[in-house]
Amino acid sequence: MSVTTTVTLAGGVDLPRVGLGTWQLSGRRAYDAIRYALDAGYRHIDTATMYGNESEVGRAVRDSGLPREDIFITTKLPAERARRARETLDASLRALDVATVDLWLIHWPTAAGALVPTWEALLAARADGLARAVGVSNFSIDQIDRITSETGQAPAINQVPWSPFEHSATQLAEHQERGVVLEGYSPLKRSDLRSPVLAAIAKAHDVTPAQVVLRWHLQHDIVVIPKSATAERIEENLNVYGFELTDDEMSTVDSLSHI
Ligand SMILES: NC(=O)c1ccc[n+]([C@@H]2O[C@H](COP(=O)([O-])OP(=O)(O)OC[C@H]3O[C@@H](n4cnc5c(N)ncnc54)[C@H](OP(=O)(O)O)[C@@H]3O)[C@@H](O)[C@H]2O)c1
Repeated sequence: MSVTTTVTLAGGVDLPRVGLGTWQLSGRRAYDAIRYALDAGYRHIDTATMYGNESEVGRAVRDSGLPREDIFITTKLPAERARRARETLDASLRALDVATVDLWLIHWPTAAGALVPTWEALLAARADGLARAVGVSNFSIDQIDRITSETGQAPAINQVPWSPFEHSATQLAEHQERGVVLEGYSPLKRSDLRSPVLAAIAKAHDVTPAQVVLRWHLQHDIVVIPKSATAERIEENLNVYGFELTDDEMSTVDSLSHI
């Protein structure tokens, strides 16, 4: 199965399927990793207000010399700032030193009563041109259905934990039926990279177990955002377009799930 390098979100915004995760990267380490990733070809960076590294992301993007419009930047609104959503986005834009983010997510579901008003704040930011696309993270399908039915607008994305060891075909299908792109986080941390099953498939393709995991995401149409602060791994994690898992290998990796 061949895989395109970008997926088009509802509303027509193109998102690179592999992005650099930046959780727990801060200061000089964050800046260096992001600069390295941009030089290596990454065009999608995942940050969040909570990560405290938006200014490093902004500086790395600026210093890369790449046109701003070539780089997809995601940031996230902490649930506890739901009542101060616009103020929080303004702070993100200032730290990132950009006029608009490409994707703004609600980082975690808020209390039930605040879900719809918070989603409306994200839709308003999109309407005002401050975010090109908006979505959610760590939402259940019921929560997605609730905000969608109340506003008539589905989130472009739901960013959730996903790995061969922790995935559900039903959950994936429920997102796809609704046109919500599933974005998987902690793909490597939640995988046993020493698994003999992954090792055998990796050997057959002359790649690493991490690359098998990431390729498995892509072939399931899942956007993936591995984090690394290590130059070789940053390169390795983007280098997943030169091989293809067979249907049998996909089923074998599917069956590693323990949920
Ligand atoms: N929305 C949310 O609630 C949420 C929650 C968690 C994460 N996220 C996002 O998802 C991103 C990814 O998740 P994550 O950071 O939790 O975990 P991850 O990307 O699955 O794993 C990162 C760990 O794997 C190591 N690693 C990276 N590439 C490797 C490779 N090729 N081979 C072996 N080990 C490798 C990294 O080490 P080195 O850095 O030392 O190379 C690091 O220890 C985050 O950075 C963040 O942007 C979102």
